[in-house]
Amino acid sequence: MKIDIRSIKPILPNGKRVYIETYGCQMNTHDSEVVVSILKNLGYLYTEKIAEADLILVNTCSIRDNAELRVWGRIKEFIPYKKMKPKLVIGIIGCMAERLKEDLLKRSKLIDIVIGPDAYRDIPNILDMVAAGEKGINVELIREETYDDITPVRLDKSGVTSFVSIMRGCNNHCTYCVVPYTRGEERSRDPKTIINDVEMLFEAGYKEVTLLGQNVNSYKWDDGESTIDFPTLIKRIAAISPELRVRFATSHPKDISDELIEAIATNRNICNHIHLPAQSGNTQMLKRMNRKYTREWYLSRVEKIKTLIPDCAISTDIIAGFCSETIEEHKDTISLMSEVGYEFAYMYKYSLRPDTQAARTMTDDIPDDEKTRRLTEIIELQRGLSMASNLRDVGKVFEVLVEGVSKRSDEQLYGRSPQNKVIVFPRKDYKVGDYVNVKVNSCSSATLIGESV
Ligand code: 5AD
Ligand code: SF4
Repeated sequence: MKIDIRSIKPILPNGKRVYIETYGCQMNTHDSEVVVSILKNLGYLYTEKIAEADLILVNTCSIRDNAELRVWGRIKEFIPYKKMKPKLVIGIIGCMAERLKEDLLKRSKLIDIVIGPDAYRDIPNILDMVAAGEKGINVELIREETYDDITPVRLDKSGVTSFVSIMRGCNNHCTYCVVPYTRGEERSRDPKTIINDVEMLFEAGYKEVTLLGQNVNSYKWDDGESTIDFPTLIKRIAAISPELRVRFATSHPKDISDELIEAIATNRNICNHIHLPAQSGNTQMLKRMNRKYTREWYLSRVEKIKTLIPDCAISTDIIAGFCSETIEEHKDTISLMSEVGYEFAYMYKYSLRPDTQAARTMTDDIPDDEKTRRLTEIIELQRGLSMASNLRDVGKVFEVLVEGVSKRSDEQLYGRSPQNKVIVFPRKDYKVGDYVNVKVNSCSSATLIGESV
């Protein structure tokens, strides 16, 4: 089934348009750009207007049940478009395609094609099958697939910040998580192609890249002579230009190395922000989650970060109400959050995912209202922590990379500090893509407000 995309000669537009909607993580955002690139090579034009589309693709997420429910709801909304244009092709791609496979076709007659995250190269064949009146499906997971040779078509609006995937898949098998089943085994991309992608973005005017992987700290590439690990890779990328900001996500706490923390501390353009998902603050719970670290290990990593990079922002992911979570275990999560003083957190109720280790061997026994109560407590605590962190920034000056005009006022611009905090300030003569030193004058728990200095 493998087609070398380089062997496909660019052809003239085929008169068809593709509309793509993306749910879930940044990896999906990046994958949609790869998919559009493959379709462009087939002659498709990209459209943001769904009514114009001949092909609607939904790039889906399976991480929690409500992510899938949203997609099911969305699919129903395509009915009028299919009625208007009977030849319209509707495809479900990404993690839900991989998880549900043929069931998707059985559950909705509207769906014509189903493509898993490692099968996007097969899109030309799949579209041929649909043109011949069949349903098209490919959900093969391919150990080697990294889409190295495909230059993504950048779909972001700003032209300032972009994502570059450095690896795919995950080998960690956290017991609650469906990702290893939907995105397959971990594999790293060739650093040459990564650096090439970043250089192309920088030449095109982009000022910030986020290097993406489920666990960037286990990035590894052996070129026969030496092994390139993540700290080496990120330093090479930072060396492309001092005008280019580098971010990365996500770091698994078990693998975050001193070398990486030192690389952030010593390279001005590697942003002082680490997303370090804790999931829980209790060691027994972490064991049930198969996270492979203890509360103490996690806190020792945080201490190392804070010692070497005093102004480093630390953010996290937290799961409330995982299997058999006791009140004491929940309280340990609360105390861990306070102790670290996170700048930001993504917080979720545990959602059972079929076929994961937790679904097979544990009981989802915390009642939903109790999960909600614990989650609310976590969210309220984080709101206070974010507010406290923002109040500490009042009076300080941050270098902001301008990403756009504020939604609330044409006279205001917004951008991010190296710590990844959104800062709003008066426009003056500044424009999108500028670096501006902004002094913070006030804040809410979500935004800093300042003025250029
Ligand atoms: N239920 C709730 N949250 C989950 N996550 C992963 N799997 C689940 C699940 N089954 C969260 C974790 C992870 C983030 C991407 O999503 O916090 O870090
Ligand atoms: Fe899921 Fe754990 Fe892999 Fe993250 S590290 S994708 S939570 S299995």
